[in-house]
Order: sequence, then C-alpha cells, then structure tokens
Amino acid sequence: MYAARMEDLALYIHWPFCLSKCPYCDFNSHVRDKIPQARMAAALRRELAFEAARIGPRNLTSIFFGGGTPSLLDPENVAALITDAQTLFTPAENIEITLEANPTSIEAQKFADYAQAGVNRVSIGVQSLDADALKFLGREHSTAQAIAAIELGRKNFPRLSFDLIYARPNQSEKSWRGELNTALTLAADHLSLYQLTIEEGTRFATLHARGAFSLPDEDLAAALYDATAEEAEKFGLKPYEISNYAVGGGESRHNLAYWRYADYAGIGPGAHGRLTLNGKRLATFRHRTPEAWAALVEAKATGITTEDEIFTRDQAREALLMGLRLAEGISFTTFATRTGTNLQDAIDPATLKAAMAENYLIQTPTHLIATPEGRKRLDALLPALAR
Ligand SMILES: C[S@@+](CC[C@H](N)C(=O)[O-])C[C@H]1O[C@@H](n2cnc3c(N)ncnc32)[C@H](O)[C@@H]1O
Ligand code: SF4
Repeated sequence: MYAARMEDLALYIHWPFCLSKCPYCDFNSHVRDKIPQARMAAALRRELAFEAARIGPRNLTSIFFGGGTPSLLDPENVAALITDAQTLFTPAENIEITLEANPTSIEAQKFADYAQAGVNRVSIGVQSLDADALKFLGREHSTAQAIAAIELGRKNFPRLSFDLIYARPNQSEKSWRGELNTALTLAADHLSLYQLTIEEGTRFATLHARGAFSLPDEDLAAALYDATAEEAEKFGLKPYEISNYAVGGGESRHNLAYWRYADYAGIGPGAHGRLTLNGKRLATFRHRTPEAWAALVEAKATGITTEDEIFTRDQAREALLMGLRLAEGISFTTFATRTGTNLQDAIDPATLKAAMAENYLIQTPTHLIATPEGRKRLDALLPALAR
C-alpha cells in the first residue's frame, strides 16, 4: 500500500522593514527607528503555526524570506522559523530556502549565520553596478559593497541570485550591455533583471510626473530587453521568465510555484497566499501595517484580514496571467488540474488565432506558450485572451 502523495506547498515569509525607502519601490516595506524584532519574530512563528494547523500535512518544496529587507531579521529568528516550518510540514528532500538580502556590509557579515540556519539560496538586491545609478535609485550601498556581498554570498550559499534594475533614464544599450557583462561575470546560477517601472504612490511617481526624468521610449526599452537576453545567453543563463534568467536547474523553484499556479502560504504583514483547502481555492490577504498585523496575530493567531474563494473563471484568468510569463508556457494538464477548467475553454478563440498568426503565441500538443515577442506584449494580449 502506498500512501497518497502529499500536495506540494511553497511558503513565503514577509519581513516588512528596510533601513530606508527606495524611491522606486512599492513593496510593503516600512522604516522604523527601532525594529520590533522579537515581537515580529514571535508573531511570524505564531502565524506559521496557525497556517500549518489548518492546511494539514504538505510536502514543503520551498521557503522564501522576502521583504522589505529580510537580511535585517536576526539569524536566530530565521533559524527558528525554518525549524518550525520543517517540523510543521514535511520538507522535500531538495527544499529550496531563499533569503533576500541587501548588500550593505553589515548584512553580508550575517551570511554565514544564515547558511548555518538552513538558508541555501540568497537573492541580493544589487540593483546596479554603476555608482551614479545607485545614487539615482537611492541605494544605501556602493558598487564595491555589492560586489563584496556577491562574492561572500557565493562562498556561503550553494545557490545565489541578484537583482538589477535597467531601462533607467539616459541608459544607452551600449552602457547596459557593459554593466550586464560585468554582472554576468559575477553571477552564479540565477539573475533577476527588471526594467524600471514607475509605481503609483512612490517618490519616483511624483518626480516622473513633474518631468524630473524620463524613461527610455518603447523602442529603446524593447532593444534593451532583447540585449539582456542576448548577453545572458552568452553566459548560459536562459530567460525562463519575463525578468528571470537561470542556468538549467537554477530556476527559482519558489517563484515557479507562483507562475505554475501551485499552492503557497504567505505569512507576515501584507503577504498573499493561494491555498486549496477542503476543495476550495482561497486567496488570503493580511494586514499590511507591521504593528497592526502583529496585534491581530497576538489576538487571533493570524493577521488575515480577508480570505476569498476564487471561482473557476478567475482561477483560469490568474493561471493564464502567471503561466504565460514562463518560457515553458502553460501545461494543459496542470492548468486543468489546478483551475478545474480546460485551457481551451478559458481563452477567446479569435484572440488566440490572431496571436498565433502574429507568432505571439504557439501551441504544442502539451503547452500553450508565449513566444519571446509575445512575452513582451503580455499586458496588451492578456485582457483580450482571457474569457
Ligand atoms: C522586495 S525587493 C528586494 C529586496 C531587497 N530589499 C533589496 O532592495 O535589495 C525585490 C526587487 O524588486 C525590484 N524592484 C522593486 N521595485 C521596482 C521597480 N519599480 N522597478 C523595477 N524593479 C523593481 C528590485 O530589483 C528589488 O530588488
Ligand atoms: S527595494 Fe528593497 S530596500 Fe528598497 S524599499 Fe524596496 S524592499 Fe526596501
């Protein structure tokens, strides 16, 4: 007799504090004179226990400490959360445990302790290797500190990624290729390369609206995007998602769970979750303010503010939105299992036909795939494609 295979689960843990607020960033991050470390860590552990109790046994494939700046979370608290998670769920043999880190020297000094705590992958927010760009982006670290953090990270963790932001004001294709080449010589198995976007409510949104700077036009942005893939491929890093590049096997398994529309629990202020419980697919939301979230956890064991059932049509829409970001596309079988509907029934046939004629989408016997040209136009394509 074989036991039924446990469903996979990915776990996201949000640490909502940063030393300062970067002008481009709309993540749920907060600056405090003194971070309430012990209170927050206790609340995270309590909320994790709450989630585990209602989710039940699962095969835990990844843990991701995101932020904010999780490298401000003390290593002993990271260790306690990892131990709790691995006790409450069944850790997969090759469990991926990632922590996002900022490259200031104080944080890099903690790398060995994080590795000791069980972290086996680090994702460093380098953002740029150019001194002026770092200043423009309001970063607290220098190029030399970023490079030192990458080197130290490579010594301490079997896997490492770092983030860069490109398509910045006045950035030429030539200068980006140069900066990216330096980055690629430092890279391990993964890079996240994001085009600068202006997010509502940020300082950049105000400055941009005032005309303080302008972004590359559409043609230059497209040329920068193509140049990015071209350079990355020279170093063996393939674009497996719109902004993510990896060597074979170096893909972020945690993020793949989001894009493949698998179940994930999110704990901590503002964390989202997508969970299948008692046959229902649920979207969970938590209070975004750290202290208010902690007070909710202290009173009721969870900071969840809303939990909505996602019905078939919306599930299909979400799965389409996430899956077409991936170079591998969407598996018809996985789509049907996860959303309860066939992919063919979830998309508009006329839009599909037109997108295939333009070579934006292709179909194989098993997958629907957005081509590289299609992936550039997903924002325009998706509203018409999803029924
Ligand atoms: C949660 S943040 C990173 C973690 C860490 N706090 C740091 O800054 O190093 C995730 C990543 O999203 C990217 N990002 C955030 N806002 C962005 C924006 N407006 N445009 C492009 N990339 C952005 C940055 O590269 C950032 O490292
Ligand atoms: S980019 Fe990172 S450090 Fe900057 S505010 Fe956002 S989360 Fe914090």
